[in-house]
Amino acid sequence: MSARRATKRAYLMCPPTYFDVVYSINDWMHPDEPVDAGRAMRQWELLRRTYLDLGHEVAVIDAEPGLPDMVFVTDSGVVVDGVAMGARYRSAQRAAEADYVLRWFVEHDFVRPTRPDFINEGEGDFLVVGDVILAGTGFRTDERAHAELGAHLDREVVTLRLVNRHYYHANTALGVLDDHTIAYLPQAFAPESRAELERRYPDAIIAEEDDAAWLGLNLVSDGKNVVIAAQATALIAKITAAGFTPVPLDYSEFRKSGGGIKCCTLELRT
Ligand code: ARG
Repeated sequence: MSARRATKRAYLMCPPTYFDVVYSINDWMHPDEPVDAGRAMRQWELLRRTYLDLGHEVAVIDAEPGLPDMVFVTDSGVVVDGVAMGARYRSAQRAAEADYVLRWFVEHDFVRPTRPDFINEGEGDFLVVGDVILAGTGFRTDERAHAELGAHLDREVVTLRLVNRHYYHANTALGVLDDHTIAYLPQAFAPESRAELERRYPDAIIAEEDDAAWLGLNLVSDGKNVVIAAQATALIAKITAAGFTPVPLDYSEFRKSGGGIKCCTLELRT
């Protein structure tokens, strides 16, 4: 098996200062189930520390009161070659998050930071795999946002249709391990999208429903080290067998909101 190689990454994170589940915009969110704020902060801090220990850079954007989902900053944009596309949320509850992150892109000199015309939930639905962007639609991101992003970034964008309400963002059903390798839950995708994934990634790692339900596919990889939900044990075994080095973390507090490790990590590709 070929040796896996890590490359240094830069990430944007947002602390869970105001994280809570006070509304429900996906099937995971139950406002009557309490969130443990201290535990959430500890899990987030450990994730940030883990990236730093792996040698990556982590920028932090301030959390804003009244935006309990802002910790899931990956949904607020896509950055490729230093070019930034902002987000446009489907739900009114999250709309303002996109404004703060777009302003952050402007202040940090990203190229052409733009607010999209169509609904686009950033790296929640846009997954960069080498030169290609796999793009989810069906629950959140408008399919028309796919061509809009492709034109903005000058990249090929491949449309994938999500069909299972639990896996409402593409990044809950598909994880990117390196420029050629993905892991995914086939039954989260429509038949034509499954066929497309099989054709493009014949050696993909196929996940089981149990691991996906722990948001194990909501992972972050640097090409070698894979930061992943500790409870996704079968998936961890498969990525290990494929030559990657798992870095398991308990990130379960955020699952109460339908979010995981990748949701809290926006990659800044320069
Ligand atoms: N509560 C948030 C929402 O429903 C969770 C977002 C998690 N992000 C993700 N990419 N899955 O929008």
